[in-house]
Amino acid sequence: MKKESFTSKWGFILAAAGSAIGLGNIWRFPYLCGQYGGLSFILVYLLILLFICNPLMVAEISIGRTAKSNCVDAYKVIGENLGLKYSKIWSFFGGWFAVIGTLMCLSFYFLVASWVLYYFLESISGDLMLIKQENLYAEFDTLTKSFSTQFSNGLIFLLITSIIIIGGVRKGVEKTSVCLMPLLFCIFIILGMRSATLEGAEKGLEFLYTIDYKYLGFTDEGYDITLLFDTFTAALGQAFISLSLGFGILLVYGSYFSAKDNLFQAVRHIEFFDTCAALLSVFIIIPAIFSAGLPVSSGPGLTFISLPLVFQNLSGGYIWALAFYLLLMLATVTSTISLFEMMVNLVMAKTKKGRFASVLMVTLLVLCGFTLVTASFSGVLNIKIFGRDLFSLFDWLVSTYTATIVSLTMALFVGYKAMKPIIHNIRRSAKVSDAFTRYFLITLRYVAPVGLGLLLLMAVI
Ligand code: PHE
Repeated sequence: MKKESFTSKWGFILAAAGSAIGLGNIWRFPYLCGQYGGLSFILVYLLILLFICNPLMVAEISIGRTAKSNCVDAYKVIGENLGLKYSKIWSFFGGWFAVIGTLMCLSFYFLVASWVLYYFLESISGDLMLIKQENLYAEFDTLTKSFSTQFSNGLIFLLITSIIIIGGVRKGVEKTSVCLMPLLFCIFIILGMRSATLEGAEKGLEFLYTIDYKYLGFTDEGYDITLLFDTFTAALGQAFISLSLGFGILLVYGSYFSAKDNLFQAVRHIEFFDTCAALLSVFIIIPAIFSAGLPVSSGPGLTFISLPLVFQNLSGGYIWALAFYLLLMLATVTSTISLFEMMVNLVMAKTKKGRFASVLMVTLLVLCGFTLVTASFSGVLNIKIFGRDLFSLFDWLVSTYTATIVSLTMALFVGYKAMKPIIHNIRRSAKVSDAFTRYFLITLRYVAPVGLGLLLLMAVI
């Protein structure tokens, strides 16, 4: 079978940025900022990007580009070339954990996607503008308890994703990303400008410009490092989800990326777009919340409960609500297609079946996962593990364990075993200075493993 590939560097960058920019940026990042002191959280997040995520992204993409294989066999291909003994162990932790993480992520991502579609439809019909303030919470609550609405909405998203993926890498993934991403950024910028000029928005902007030292550990009673740890673990988990790092997606996209194109530049662009999207989301949501006098630390309900109220009180609110939920829809699709493509790529390689049959198999598998998650979350089925319904269980496992374990494996694999072929691969398309090699080596060997180890440790104790 001929190996598929992106047509250009920009095809790759936009597809990876499309995967990165999603509900994580628009829904999760702003509420975490609200909970962890605004600028303090943003600063910790940016440092994590520079010292942990940047080298890991280069590592993940170049593993894929060097091996030109799926996320499980890539470690074996490189390991066998190097004569490594325990390639299977690397494949297990780096590859199969990524598969499990992606499958869990797909299962609950379509559930959140179903809420997005619900609010999008409500904003089209105008019903969103009519819900009384005191009923907004109940509206969201009723939605989360309805199996049928969530299931049918999620199913629509699932089918759209499958159809796009049947189109393949160029006509499906790349074309969709190239069309949707510019549109996404236009909506982002227009909404950001509107929000920053709202009456009372200054307080929100002030919140974003001020460092709250408490979240860095400085309290009136002295220094408390656990507070910094809390901010650090929240920011690190967010960075993985936001960049789609440690899911095998970047590895697979890397295998479609031409050896001639500059990988550093591509990674810088992806990080830049993703961070812009996260910061723009914060600038859209936080000032609006302050201007409406709502609590900024209200958590996950911020996008679905607080924001509708903001739109209701805004002149032209109907249009703004429509634009905002459309933005969420587009961002969601470009993320689900990347998760899906990673699975299809693996199924095609392992079963030797064509793309269509593989898409069908993955669709059925994800449908099972999604149905179980929705049934458990809405209370139709009483499935609880560790006292959690399947939604919060999968969310917790993915953001705390699978992505971290995969990333730790990649850092150790490249840092200690495969530095040579990886640097060689990067050198084919870009100049690699000694300073970069040192930074890459030190971050992968020491900084990232310590950070990731800490995250795992905090999760276990
Ligand atoms: N990066 C996506 C977001 O921020 C989520 C995602 C995670 C997508 C993992 C793919 C894989 O919403």
